[in-house]
Amino acid sequence: MRTDTAPLIRLTDYRPPDWLVETVHLDVTLHPTETRVRASLALIPNPAVPPAPLVLDGDGLTLVSLRRDGVSLPADSYIATPDKLTIPQPPNRPFRLDIETVVDPTANTQLSGLYRSSGTWCTQCEAEGFRRITYFPDRPDVMAVYSTRIEADKSEAPVLLANGNLIDSGELPDNRHFAVWHDPHKKPSYLFALVGGDLASIEDKFTTMTGRDVTLRIYVEHGKEDRADYAMDALKRSMRWDEEAFGREYDLDIFMIVAVSDFNMGAMENKGLNVFNDKYVLASGETATDGDFAGIESVIAHEYFHNWTGNRITCRDWFQLCLKEGLTVFRDQEFTSDMRSRPVKRIADVRTLRAAQFVEDSGPLAHPVRPAAYKEINNFYTATVYEKGAEVVRMMQTLIGREAFRAGMDIYFARHDGEAATVEQFIQCFADASGRDMTQFMRWYAQAGTPEVNVRTQFDAERGIYTVTLKQSVPPTPGQATKAPMVIPLRMGLLDKNGRELPIVPVEGGAIQRDVLVLDKAEQTLTFGGMTERPVLSINRAFSAPIKLVTDLTNADFALLARHDSDPFNRWQALQTTAIRLLTDNVARLRAGGMPRADDNLIGALGAILNDESLEPAFIALALTPPGEGDIAREIGRDIDPDKIHLARQALREDIGIRLGADLSLTYERLASADPYSPDAASAGRRALRNVALDLLAATGSSPAITRAADQYADADNMTDRMAALATLAQHEVPERGEALDDFYKRYADNALVIDKWFSLQAASPHKSALDKVRGLTAHPAFSMGNPNRVRAVIGAFAQGNLTQFNRADGAGYAFVADSILAIDPKNPQLAARLATSFRTWRTLESGRRALAETQLRRIKASPNLSRDLADIVERALG
Ligand code: TRP
Ligand code: ZN
Repeated sequence: MRTDTAPLIRLTDYRPPDWLVETVHLDVTLHPTETRVRASLALIPNPAVPPAPLVLDGDGLTLVSLRRDGVSLPADSYIATPDKLTIPQPPNRPFRLDIETVVDPTANTQLSGLYRSSGTWCTQCEAEGFRRITYFPDRPDVMAVYSTRIEADKSEAPVLLANGNLIDSGELPDNRHFAVWHDPHKKPSYLFALVGGDLASIEDKFTTMTGRDVTLRIYVEHGKEDRADYAMDALKRSMRWDEEAFGREYDLDIFMIVAVSDFNMGAMENKGLNVFNDKYVLASGETATDGDFAGIESVIAHEYFHNWTGNRITCRDWFQLCLKEGLTVFRDQEFTSDMRSRPVKRIADVRTLRAAQFVEDSGPLAHPVRPAAYKEINNFYTATVYEKGAEVVRMMQTLIGREAFRAGMDIYFARHDGEAATVEQFIQCFADASGRDMTQFMRWYAQAGTPEVNVRTQFDAERGIYTVTLKQSVPPTPGQATKAPMVIPLRMGLLDKNGRELPIVPVEGGAIQRDVLVLDKAEQTLTFGGMTERPVLSINRAFSAPIKLVTDLTNADFALLARHDSDPFNRWQALQTTAIRLLTDNVARLRAGGMPRADDNLIGALGAILNDESLEPAFIALALTPPGEGDIAREIGRDIDPDKIHLARQALREDIGIRLGADLSLTYERLASADPYSPDAASAGRRALRNVALDLLAATGSSPAITRAADQYADADNMTDRMAALATLAQHEVPERGEALDDFYKRYADNALVIDKWFSLQAASPHKSALDKVRGLTAHPAFSMGNPNRVRAVIGAFAQGNLTQFNRADGAGYAFVADSILAIDPKNPQLAARLATSFRTWRTLESGRRALAETQLRRIKASPNLSRDLADIVERALG
């Protein structure tokens, strides 16, 4: 459907459903091309609304038969189209509707609804995929009890799974069999799932806090069982953590995860039957990096935590998406913080937030955490809904304190269990738990754009008074020209000249609860008395608010913070801010035809961090990593020349490599490990630091460093070290580069997830041959437009991970990505739309590139038969 015909759906238009569904009986006969679906719905008129026609959603459906209370409906009493089934005059009483449809899972390349992945039948129903299986009121506020009977050929699908508990199974004639699953919990249709296929599994068990035994099973392709152990371990730890941290117990006899290789997103929280992109299940030391292990741990946790935040309590409508996603991201971030290092996790999360969400929030695709309108809901599974949504929950915890926050969560679970809730209902629980008025805080859900907080400080030596003046503003975003002040919780501290923490008692201008200053006006001034010297302000500690901070702190102040701040996040931030100042300055110099300057103080501060033995290696690794090209581009904000950004960053990396060379070498040697690989956070941190050291040493291009990388590549006993060495080599035009890349392909040719790494490394290479290389890779026998992981590994990595080559001055990068998007759209609109978001920063480019990118966006927009998904993105991107 073209967007000009796609309606705009508005939050303010919400109406309760006319009809409710009490139970759903599904009977699915699996067939590669003609799967038969018999749905029996117990419908009741919603007592809360006047009588109305029955209108069920469909998407590409073929109706085979329709019966009401067992009797075939005459053809003139209903209207069936592929996207709608209407009974204009239904009886005004409960009745049963039996609907038979037939669907073709093999032809389903959108990966929404019922489809096949490597021969396995599986479903993806969020957000609106259930309507591609049967006609249904496919909206999350219609919650029903489901039972599912699946029938299939025994050899094709020995494994038959659906939500809930297995209640029956048996043999049928002609080598066929069936299974019946019953899910006693009411759920919306988007949480429905079924799977059928020839899969292997691993099994374990978990004893809940009340002593109930739960069977845990992870299904994978045959031969991959041994790569699911870490996922199983992560699942058990997630289950325990949710009991301990939130008092949440699992509620079925079995919890199943199925790993599939074709999946549009990371994973899906279907009740009792999570379906995962196999990238977030399969791992071994030889095939997965520390980053992959961390990804598995957090996605397993995320989907498991949805059982309470999303499933038991779901969303009233899709505008409330952050109610489950923001909250569940917050919960998985807390889990990781408890499993690993809290400061390291916080820094990693803030880096993603800035790289993905801040960029989104400052461009044409900006939208509030709770959007007010959408054309295609799939396009709102965004960093804003997920990541900023999590920040809003965290801010609330910061405002009311951990205890009141936990009490608010308890109220939420008790008050809304079994319901489809709204953001207002969620926030009310915390207002009730804390006694705090949350009216103004709600603006975080309604106003898009990253707030900017400007901080000016002043010291009156004579009177011993330190004054902090804060001003906030929220930039205009699409459809929102002016903004009202937000409630911004700023964790803060004051340091004396030796880096010691000073007591913070404001004498004037506002209260500080614990160490949190709450900025809720456009401008506020705080005065601190009894100061014998000018203190150094440490503000927005632990990144307590998702804002852009502009301060008048000097480089000397940041040097002090980098060395002494008791808040590790701000130690890291102080170095980043100093580096960003240098890098943006150097970009300006390069553009003016000059040379980049060096910053002795920054190098000194990095050296001090490198040799600070009180710090954990994972933290040092982050501190030594200069801001990314995207960070620099974001800071500059307009008229961007990606080549100069790349040069400036390279120059800094080289400078670090040269001037800290001796210490980096020592670090590299010292952190060599003779122990067998273990994915635990401490070991991973040591590898991270060692590999950052290797990369910085090699940044100088020195041949001993290249040799060292080549040796590490050859000798590594784990994927983390092998991949890191390969990534380092890939940045240099040396013979070792090609040799290692060839070797890597040969070694791992039969492992798709590893070959994805090989593809993306090359696609993200800043070398000017990258585009040719990427074109070649899309012609590689192992490339397929049908597999989302592979598409993301090549085209996604190029468009989103290669600032200079995607943004080539001749526009060839844009043209190639536009061609790819247009080729993918007819097959998989969700994937095409997501790739198209790569163009969202086009207006910030220098004029030549800006015009070339715009040309490609307009070309996409003018192409015939665009999907609603893609049309929506390009139209909004062009604004
Ligand atoms: N609910 C899923 C999650 O957050 C997201 C998801 C999985 C999804 N598959 C999808 C969203 C398909 C839209 C379409 O974990
Ligand atoms: Zn989620």
